[in-house]
Amino acid sequence: ASGKFTFDPGFLSTAACESKITYIDGDKGELLYRGFPIEQLAVNCDYLETCYLLLNGDLPNEAQRKDFENRVLKHTMIHEQMTRFFAGFRRDAHPMAILVGCVGALSAFYHDSLDIQNPEHRFVSAIRLIAKMPTMVAMAYKYSVGQPFMYPRNDLSYAGNFMRMMFGTPCEEYQVNPVLERALDRILILHADHEQNASTSTVRLAGSSGANPFACIAAGIATLWGPAHGGANEACLVMLGEIQQQGGIEKIGDFIANVKDKNSGVKLMGFGHRVYKNYDPRAKLMRETCYEVLGELGLENDPLFALAMKLEQIALEDEYFVQRKLYPNVDFYSGIVQRALGIPTEMFTCIFALARTVGWIAQWGEMIGEPDQKIGRPRQLFTGSTRREVVPIAQR
Ligand code: SDX
Repeated sequence: ASGKFTFDPGFLSTAACESKITYIDGDKGELLYRGFPIEQLAVNCDYLETCYLLLNGDLPNEAQRKDFENRVLKHTMIHEQMTRFFAGFRRDAHPMAILVGCVGALSAFYHDSLDIQNPEHRFVSAIRLIAKMPTMVAMAYKYSVGQPFMYPRNDLSYAGNFMRMMFGTPCEEYQVNPVLERALDRILILHADHEQNASTSTVRLAGSSGANPFACIAAGIATLWGPAHGGANEACLVMLGEIQQQGGIEKIGDFIANVKDKNSGVKLMGFGHRVYKNYDPRAKLMRETCYEVLGELGLENDPLFALAMKLEQIALEDEYFVQRKLYPNVDFYSGIVQRALGIPTEMFTCIFALARTVGWIAQWGEMIGEPDQKIGRPRQLFTGSTRREVVPIAQR
């Protein structure tokens, strides 16, 4: 909207798809949601405003935001029968396994009344998913700790409602800490969308066949779970914990040496990116959020935060990482701040999925809304056998 983007023809011929939603400049380390810089959105907006922006293409005014929030609030509960799905999982099931299963099961409740060619139906699907994800993520957590499910409360903010469903119990009133509530809301904004990453591409490919949006989002959740993608924040915190156990800051040199040894298979989790060859702008904002949360909780001297900052400083000065343009990405600090918020490690990727649901469903809706939208069909570079004849097994 602010200026014409131009592409060289070569790029367009290889581009997986065209989109108006999110723009990344990997070399500059720039991230724009519908043209607005992530740095400005994270400070001046909240997550529901960002959801409205990603879905509708512009930031809402007061009335539009209120109407959007009221529509979301009408769908925060899940069908009571859905609660039985959770009971079918082992208590120690990874919450992402529960989320993949239960979000896919939403198809059984909503898809048959859905005409995806109808823009209003698409919008209601988006509203339903944005509204229900916090409820289902919190239920996956409550189920894993054997506590009763907490029903959503529509007098709380989006982030505050989620915190109460996660950490509250029926036994007492849950007090939302406004600093932590704001920090969580910002974490959701930072993870809301990111162009054609692996999980978004999965949602688009699944959706291109005409599959219902709930099943497509379940496919996106499954993709996000991998440690090379959304599972990296969990893997990064485990990595920091292991370095801490082996001696902390004094042992960073040994760890970095291990990473450089290709045979070790050890990666610096939370570093590197398929697109960013500069600092991921979300990582800077996540580090600032870390400061705020740790400060609010009197944990300024959190050893893992000090270790992460030292590790970042050493890596950014090390030729191996400089040469390969490896910088911290969104996952490098997000584990530390989520742990400080009281979110257990195994829930980190569920929070990522909660936040990314709006990006997935916005990208899905953009694709379905395209005139003459066609099913995706990636081509391959065949490197197998040329044609040959079958011989009977006795002669093989
Ligand atoms: C997310 O796509 C998205 O937008 C994803 C995401 C989103 O919002 O949706 O941003 C979220 O997934 C962020 C990434 C989270 N993953 C991790 O932090 C896991 C650790 N990172 C790596 O696995 C890796 O950096 C990837 C998978 C993210 C990218 O891998 P690439 O494409 O192989 O990276 P590259 O081509 O830039 O690598 C160049 C070199 C290679 O070595 P050489 O063969 O040149 O010797 O750097 C090496 C890589 O092996 N390398 C790393 C490394 N990342 C790349 N070496 C050590 N540690 C790392 N983290």
